[in-house]
Amino acid sequence: MDLQKEISRRKTFAIISHPDAGKTTLTEKFLLFGGAIQTAGAVKSNKIRKSATSDFMEIEKQRGISVATSVMGFEYGSRRINILDTPGHKDFAEDTYRTLTAVDSVILVIDCVKGVEEQTERLMEVCRMRRTPVIIFINKLDREGREPFELLDELENKLSISVRPLTWPIGQGQSFKGVYNLYGKSLNLFESGSSRVTQSFVSLQDLNDPELDRWIPESFSKKLRDDVLLIEGVYEPFDRELYREGLLAPVFFGSAINNFGIRELLETFTEIAPSPDAREAAERTVHAAEEAMTGFVFKIHANLDPNHRDRTAFFKICSGRFERNRFYTHTRLQKKVRFSSPTHFMANEKSIIDDAWPGDVIGLYDNGSLKIGDTLTEGEDLHFRGIPSFSPEIFKALENRDPMKQKQLDKGIRQLTEEGLAQLFIQFGNRKIIGTVGELQFDVIKFRLEHEYNAQCDFTPLRYHKAFWVTGADKEMLEEFRRRKAGAIALDREERPVFLAESEWMLKVAREDYPSLEFHTTSECT
Ligand code: G4P
Repeated sequence: MDLQKEISRRKTFAIISHPDAGKTTLTEKFLLFGGAIQTAGAVKSNKIRKSATSDFMEIEKQRGISVATSVMGFEYGSRRINILDTPGHKDFAEDTYRTLTAVDSVILVIDCVKGVEEQTERLMEVCRMRRTPVIIFINKLDREGREPFELLDELENKLSISVRPLTWPIGQGQSFKGVYNLYGKSLNLFESGSSRVTQSFVSLQDLNDPELDRWIPESFSKKLRDDVLLIEGVYEPFDRELYREGLLAPVFFGSAINNFGIRELLETFTEIAPSPDAREAAERTVHAAEEAMTGFVFKIHANLDPNHRDRTAFFKICSGRFERNRFYTHTRLQKKVRFSSPTHFMANEKSIIDDAWPGDVIGLYDNGSLKIGDTLTEGEDLHFRGIPSFSPEIFKALENRDPMKQKQLDKGIRQLTEEGLAQLFIQFGNRKIIGTVGELQFDVIKFRLEHEYNAQCDFTPLRYHKAFWVTGADKEMLEEFRRRKAGAIALDREERPVFLAESEWMLKVAREDYPSLEFHTTSECT
């Protein structure tokens, strides 16, 4: 009974956005509402500032911050809210994608001046792949932004999702007056700089009520009435099922920095967002309400202290109750493991917990036996799916600069790639190729190899354009392909064959020459 109760009160989600749209500010306001922090400014932005004097020193600093803010759990009324943080910098997009595999829904923040930006589109692609329910928050209404209807059209067109406004802005920028709650039928009037958690709402069941004109100037009330008529005419009523299936995104307007429009968002979120549900494992579907504990690792964080090579594995519980000091089965290694100090994260603090429930993310102390994607169970041989690797965009060969330190280099590179910092591909003859999404990771790898593993390396740029995971039912053809293209074939961490294509054209030729083979841009399909 406890299990069902704990599941239904949990909401685990991520706030995502293109950098600068207001993710950190919104996260902070949520924590303020939840009473998890007392003052604004307590949540450090995990973005890497462009003005930073040295990129990787900044990254080191950010690593410290992001341990603290990786998971922020707090109680809100009778609910338990878990916010999973995602890195803002685009070079760390893979980390974000992995985190998105561990959430039950997301809130997407859009800057009303800029609309849909590059990262917004990529993040939504991942949400669509997983059919993650999305709520959209259009932020910075205190600025002169784009027309709300135009923004809604852009959201639908660029993000391939239907939208339905649940609040509606009255004016914008200098003349921003507030938002009308279409769902709750109340008016929320804007007061700039409001840091109060409570705001006064005017209940207005009927917009034709002359009362409206008492609160806002006539030109605004007329426009609001016209806009609402248009909304009711154009958009279908909000359908919770479509939202839950990831097909329809409710839209809210507000200003995070002014703490405006946040309560409506948070209230609706806690009401409609899904609690932990079923999750696919390679063997079967696992339901959150099953008694036996299951879960998986979606992120590994190395300790910042170079003298202690221990790491924290972020473990998402999928079913049952997790207990401290109990033996669980590590299904990849087929061995029993036990954790004496699992931690729970709460805003900037962490504490040891005795148990945890589906939807929770806990930190497990790891001395090197856990990898991203590993599953723990009470004995059943299960492997959760859905921790995809995406094709890197930059490839470089790893060269050892100090032959006496080969072992250190091998260990370092293995551990850093297990952390998900970059992807490691091994070619015939043991040539190691590092693939990343951005240049920044090469600086980080070099820096950390030197400081944490006492190893030195160089990178030689390679001309590969993309990596494709190759599969095929026709084993002979697959073998022939691997033999003929040996120079462009490598194995990933799981020893799956990957085709390193130098161009789209090379891929096209390979597809034509080997029609029965399939070439995938993510590892998930293999
Ligand atoms: P991010 O995590 O998505 O990258 O964005 P973040 O919250 O850090 O916000 C980016 C910038 O936008 C910040 O200003 C923040 O103060 C501002 N901002 C957030 N919400 C609003 C809003 O509702 N209205 C307006 N006008 N600005 C908003 P900054 O100058 O980059 O940083 P800071 O010096 O203020 O911290």
